[in-house]
Amino acid sequence: MNEHKVYFIGAGPGDPEFLTLKGARALERCQLVFVPTPYEQTFADLLGGKTLLVPFDYYFEELLEHIRAGLETASVAFLVPGDLTFYSPFQGLIDTLGAAAEVIPGVGTANAASARLKKTLDLPGVCKSAVIVSPRTLGDRPEDPKLIDFARPGTSLLIYMNNIPLPNLVEELRRGYQSDVPIAIIHRLCLPGEEIVLGTLDDIVAKVGERDFFNLRAKTKRPALTLVLVGESLAAEEDGTWWNYRRDNIWRYRDGD
Ligand SMILES: C[S@@+](CC[C@H](N)C(=O)[O-])C[C@H]1O[C@@H](n2cnc3c(N)ncnc32)[C@H](O)[C@@H]1O
Repeated sequence: MNEHKVYFIGAGPGDPEFLTLKGARALERCQLVFVPTPYEQTFADLLGGKTLLVPFDYYFEELLEHIRAGLETASVAFLVPGDLTFYSPFQGLIDTLGAAAEVIPGVGTANAASARLKKTLDLPGVCKSAVIVSPRTLGDRPEDPKLIDFARPGTSLLIYMNNIPLPNLVEELRRGYQSDVPIAIIHRLCLPGEEIVLGTLDDIVAKVGERDFFNLRAKTKRPALTLVLVGESLAAEEDGTWWNYRRDNIWRYRDGD
């Protein structure tokens, strides 16, 4: 039995600068790499001389055959968009591979988006919770939750893989939030063609105009690389009040500490 591993490497939103050192070292050890588009372009410098396959071109059993063959000579890698934490299709492979699988965390799209906007998604007195959700995965039975169930004042929403036309999405969010809150449409973050549109529920449709950020006019059913963030914290500004409150009440060592 060889020691080769199958690494599921959190590859970040698309720019190899966001690959962790651990991920880069694991990738170096691999000869066969499964690479979803467009990572074969953006990661080209790290993939020279390796055998590249697109995971979504294969059925599950075919993938396992390729992996087993690849493991005979070296470790095998999957570049996982963002990382495994949310909306990643690799769980079946990881469970099937058992001890041979190793998961390496990475920079999720949510992390990279928060950094790009320079906004934390929770903020005392502004946003008390953040909810990660996708209309594609909620289900369409009457008893399934709807997006509006999560769109509440004081909640940041991170909407992945949106497939609702923007005017309808905004209308649903407007009913949930019951006011005009900030929204960010983040398209192809850290990739060629990146576009970020900031607005509010009242003006975002006009700001986006004819741009099809969700691939709704395309033939492909593949979700667009577009993340939607909604919530009051996107436009909130904080001063030093909460810092000093925490300094006084939480962080300061007390007698006996
Ligand atoms: C199958 S999910 C993968 C999420 C990934 N596991 C992560 O941690 O970010 C694909 C969705 O993630 C978001 N996404 C992934 N990469 C993105 C990027 N570079 N820019 C904007 N959104 C992205 C989009 O909402 C897209 O529809």
